[in-house]
Amino acid sequence: MMSKFSDITKLKEKLINDISKSQDISQLEDIRISSLGKKGFITSLLKNITSQKPEDKKEYGEQVNILKKQITEEIEKVREDYLQKDIIKKINQDKIDVTLPIRNTNLENGRIHPITQVMEEIVEIFSDMNFSIAEGPDIEDDLHNFNLLNIPDSHPARQMVDTFYLPQKDGETKLLRTHTSPVQIRTMLNEKPPIRIIAPGRTYRSDSDQTHTPMFHQVEGLVIDESANMGQLKWCLEEFCKAFFEVSEIKMRLRPSYFPFTEPSLEVDIACRKEKNQLIVGEGDEWLEVLGSGMVHPQVLRNVNLDPDKYQGFAFGLGIDRLAMLKYGMTDLRAFFDSDLNWLRHYGFKVFDIPSLSKGLSE
Ligand code: PHE
Repeated sequence: MMSKFSDITKLKEKLINDISKSQDISQLEDIRISSLGKKGFITSLLKNITSQKPEDKKEYGEQVNILKKQITEEIEKVREDYLQKDIIKKINQDKIDVTLPIRNTNLENGRIHPITQVMEEIVEIFSDMNFSIAEGPDIEDDLHNFNLLNIPDSHPARQMVDTFYLPQKDGETKLLRTHTSPVQIRTMLNEKPPIRIIAPGRTYRSDSDQTHTPMFHQVEGLVIDESANMGQLKWCLEEFCKAFFEVSEIKMRLRPSYFPFTEPSLEVDIACRKEKNQLIVGEGDEWLEVLGSGMVHPQVLRNVNLDPDKYQGFAFGLGIDRLAMLKYGMTDLRAFFDSDLNWLRHYGFKVFDIPSLSKGLSE
């Protein structure tokens, strides 16, 4: 339908024509300024509204605004096309000169976070003892995090930790794992003994103070076979602590404890002493708790279809963050997750200058 405002129609035809004939982005920009700019054609058409008959003013205004919108969109569309073509042209023309010397930037290299470093150290020590690595999901269910570990619904151990539950979906309860022990269950369900694994990873509890953060890290250890025994458990833990703290002797204490999934259960402390604000690990009169452990409970073995008369095993759970604080002298666990660059530069490890451990072990 021909608009009764012929100047609008004519301008539209002219502009569409101009746009289609434009050769590049700068010509397109000229068209945009000459039509939509402060003194542009469309802008002056809008001003002309005052000279329209009163009964035409509304329709006239609408028509100019429609034109303005159409032209704006058309210019944008064609501009996009040019940009695309430009990029393709650039990609085709650009050649990388591999002979150029590298630019001298003063950028600081990133650092390895102490948690990553300590996790790698732990993995390395246990690999040396022939453990392999197992993994499990951070989002767990009641069954793996609790029930199969001999922690039934009403068990008081469920109240011992503050669990983060996820909103129910299809009647299923999901939660953020409160420990790495569900990986024990997943491994025993999927693999046949002999089993000898460690499972490093993130764990979650609603807790926050100087030595607790809502997310923290553990390494689970699990050994299952026909003759696994507590002497081996003690040996593994001793060897681990000596290698980790890089000392030749370590004073350790095994304390009776309680976990629903181990029987007997023990907690392990290592001796330490403070010397001028520094913590010396492995000797002294003070004790530091570093891990929980025990012999796998026969009910847990039955839960994963292993015969407790044939198989036995031991398990342990180490707090990685705690170990990192002890070894590298940080005092506040919360700083680990603050992303403070000064802290990271101070406590982080240079990629090519990782202190001792890997070197220490292979030497
Ligand atoms: N899962 C226990 C905790 O988080 C630690 C543990 C692991 C204890 C394995 C015994 C055996 O406290």
